[in-house]
Amino acid sequence: MSRPDYADKIPNNVALAGDRRLQRALESWQPDFLSWWESMGPALPTREVYLRTAVNVGKEGWAHFGHVPMRDYRWGIFLAQADPDRRIAFGAHKGEPAWQQVPGEYRAELQRLIVIQGDTEPASVEQQRNLGATAPSLYDLRNLFQVNVEEGRHLWAMVYLLHAHFGRQGREEAGELLHRNSGSADAPRILGAFNEETPDWLSFFMFTYFTDRDGKYQLGTLKESAFDPLSRTCEFMLKEEAHHMFVGTTGVDRVVERTAQVMVENDTDDVAAYGAVPLPVIQKYLNFHYSVSLDLFGGETSANVANYYTAGLKGRWLEERRTDDHRLTDDSIRVDALVGGEIAVTEVPALTGLNTDLRREYTADCESGVKRWNRILSGANLPHRLALPHVAFNRKVGAFAGIEASPDGEKLDAARWQAGKGQWLPTDTDKTFVRSLMQPARERGKIAAWLAPPRNGINGRPFDYDYVHLA
Ligand SMILES: [Fe+2]
Ligand SMILES: [Fe+2]
Repeated sequence: MSRPDYADKIPNNVALAGDRRLQRALESWQPDFLSWWESMGPALPTREVYLRTAVNVGKEGWAHFGHVPMRDYRWGIFLAQADPDRRIAFGAHKGEPAWQQVPGEYRAELQRLIVIQGDTEPASVEQQRNLGATAPSLYDLRNLFQVNVEEGRHLWAMVYLLHAHFGRQGREEAGELLHRNSGSADAPRILGAFNEETPDWLSFFMFTYFTDRDGKYQLGTLKESAFDPLSRTCEFMLKEEAHHMFVGTTGVDRVVERTAQVMVENDTDDVAAYGAVPLPVIQKYLNFHYSVSLDLFGGETSANVANYYTAGLKGRWLEERRTDDHRLTDDSIRVDALVGGEIAVTEVPALTGLNTDLRREYTADCESGVKRWNRILSGANLPHRLALPHVAFNRKVGAFAGIEASPDGEKLDAARWQAGKGQWLPTDTDKTFVRSLMQPARERGKIAAWLAPPRNGINGRPFDYDYVHLA
């Protein structure tokens, strides 16, 4: 474990100064990253933002807070502390020492996994590029930028692995990560959900709740990887990711809280007239973001993922806390499926069903958010409740891609889907309405009408702190 080198051009704890070739390669990628940030990163001009910067990975204090011009944010390379005795926890290589180098036989697959993960990081920055203009408070604006700079750092994390371990091909892939762009017609991002624009702050909160949470689960599987540098990178990324989850969870909390407040004060469900988001609209946004995020887990069954597991490239969520044999060759799992054209479950080998295993962990986690939002509603003595839609609802990937289903999981023919769709997914009218609420609040302590203020500020600062100095 080397001491963090913070004086370097590229802050790092990977002893970059000891590898001149690698250092030069990354230093030559750096200006490309910065010009990508300038052209595709946050569009709102600012002077300084109160940001958290990763400076170390230790338990006692890994981050520094302060006002910095965003362009001068110190994007660095930080791997979690190494465990010199770490052994592979699952698959055919279970019990062998973790790999410090990429085994030739798994090179292509590992590179692919890293590229796919790496592609999502800058994609979300691009999707959120224009949100600054309509930020509901300086506190929220700061949180948006915090998420953005950290997704930039996660790109650095993946680019480091590509440069350090995958030779010329890795360097080429690192370049491509800046050339694909979210929503681009000729060079889009790899995964569908990352080509949708995030047009308003309700979408942003739903995205950070549901889609960033998918990222958390993907990183969780890579953290188990036999390839130790990937494992350690992901472990540290998860630490930063916790704040992104927080932004989503408390963001939706505050939308629901404000809506409940307006409902109670005015004794009405029709809060649109009072500038708040009606509960049915919140439910539709939730339905949309949850269902597109489920698609990110891939098909219910996958031979590729079975191979990744057996090879040791990608484990399960909290692999080491599972009490089975960690090889799964004799186990089975029940997965969602279309059986005789109907929504049902079927039994498959556990290895083939690993995507389902991960997706279920994710769904259980999402349920906890719904519970908290419903607690806000019940606390306001309102009978209304939010709910996650059925796994077959609005799916474009996997077993249910070819059918339509209601949020309750009833299979629908095309006519009934067309008739019901507008009650379940945001319509153009809903989107226009939500956008109309997005009036920026740019003074200290001010907040938009559709959102409750947070309970606490950032890093012990009050809500009305000067989180962002606008240009
Ligand atoms: Fe990330
Ligand atoms: Fe994130």
